[in-house]
Amino acid sequence: MNCDVLIRNAAVLDGSGAEAVRADVAVVDDRIAAVGPELEWRSNDTIDADGLVLSPGFIDVHTHDDTAVIGNPAMLPKLSQGVTTVVVGNCGISASPVTLRGEPPDPMNLLGTAQAFRYPTFAAYLAAIAEARPAVNVGALIGHTALRNNHMDRLDRTATESEIAGMRAQLEDALEGGALGLSSGLAYLSANSATTEEVMRLAEPLAAAGAIYTTHMRTETETILDSMREAFEIGRMNRVPVVVSHLKCAGIANWGRSGEVLEALEHAQQTQETGCDCYPYAAGSSTLDLRQVDERVKITITWSSPHDEVAGKNLAEIATGWNVTQMEAARRLQPAGAIYHSISEQDMRRILGHRATMIGSDGLPLDPRPHPRLWGTFPRVLGHYCREEKLFPLPTAVHKMTGMPAQRFGLAERGLIRAGNAADLVLFDAKTIEDSATFADPVQPAKGIERVWVNGVLSYTAKGATGQRGGRFVARGRTTWIQ
Ligand code: ZN
Ligand code: CU
Repeated sequence: MNCDVLIRNAAVLDGSGAEAVRADVAVVDDRIAAVGPELEWRSNDTIDADGLVLSPGFIDVHTHDDTAVIGNPAMLPKLSQGVTTVVVGNCGISASPVTLRGEPPDPMNLLGTAQAFRYPTFAAYLAAIAEARPAVNVGALIGHTALRNNHMDRLDRTATESEIAGMRAQLEDALEGGALGLSSGLAYLSANSATTEEVMRLAEPLAAAGAIYTTHMRTETETILDSMREAFEIGRMNRVPVVVSHLKCAGIANWGRSGEVLEALEHAQQTQETGCDCYPYAAGSSTLDLRQVDERVKITITWSSPHDEVAGKNLAEIATGWNVTQMEAARRLQPAGAIYHSISEQDMRRILGHRATMIGSDGLPLDPRPHPRLWGTFPRVLGHYCREEKLFPLPTAVHKMTGMPAQRFGLAERGLIRAGNAADLVLFDAKTIEDSATFADPVQPAKGIERVWVNGVLSYTAKGATGQRGGRFVARGRTTWIQ
């Protein structure tokens, strides 16, 4: 029989966490047609993958690519890492459904200026994705902050009964359209005044839809355990799975607490479905938050609306140059973006290596000088943390970025190499795969990615993007949690 693509003799890591098996994989149209040793299939496009690993395309569960998949559909920062699906709408901010009355409130401005928000309904967003045909698949969460923006005159208070009802109606509409769930960003001032009760009520429709709740928690510093309790309570009361976003112990006073934090997560796992995602760096990035300015922490400014010229400089140098305190400099830079070197490497490794943890880049695609996680996350996990540091075996590393996220987020027929599943595949060299992006030089494609197929479309090779784009919107399927 003939197939469109035949990959021979690859070390197949199927995404389940199982050891590699030497096998052939046949692709017909957008599907995996067969997997097995020495398949009888024939193809004009036959690849000898001897010495290379074939795995499911990577799933970036934590992105802010909402507007990038439309405005920049080549999606090179992700495609070049072997990512074939991005989950957008994290941290309470989504591009839809959104109606603005001016400039977007912080941190919705991470997704663009007012003109980027053109999707008053989830359906309008899906139509824009279909038209843009991005290179990667798109799964979408709906942001709590985005919904607050739509229904509230001011964001520094909790929502009223009727405002919650309005937000819920929009959430339900999006869930019907295939959204994966609800995200919140309670740490940000635009959502920090929301009570637990507000989120709890808003999250009510998730269970019946089989959707999930993800959260950038109220705090990741001293009172992180209280925030975890809040997140788990919202999930438990609503019988909905919880994903803690970019789990970390932030701030110097909080270093060394990853053991406690993971214990709290494990404790919750005994009675409810919970997990987390993590990026493989000891630094975070978001908008510049005055509450996180700490003279002991290196903070790099990534952008500033009033002071374009300082992008890439450290807050300390800027403050010295202006002869003011770092706090005063940070005030003058607003609105701005920043990288905070405020995480301990030891804590990050411990969280990254935990069995509850998926990989999510949290990359910010619009930053002119982005945190290197935007271009480097997945190869860094496979090269630096798996091969060099031996934090986990390769099948586990791949599982954390394929089978596990597909099951938890309900991305049906993805994340596992199985006959009948979507042909999202990445062929890479496990001996050489490596991130190239650094804090000094962050816009760099990784090494070791040989080929990437998205829905059977060859989209990227070691020479770069092919120009063919095969991504689609991925509607919510059934979630399955194995923990
Ligand atoms: Zn976040
Ligand atoms: Cu985020």
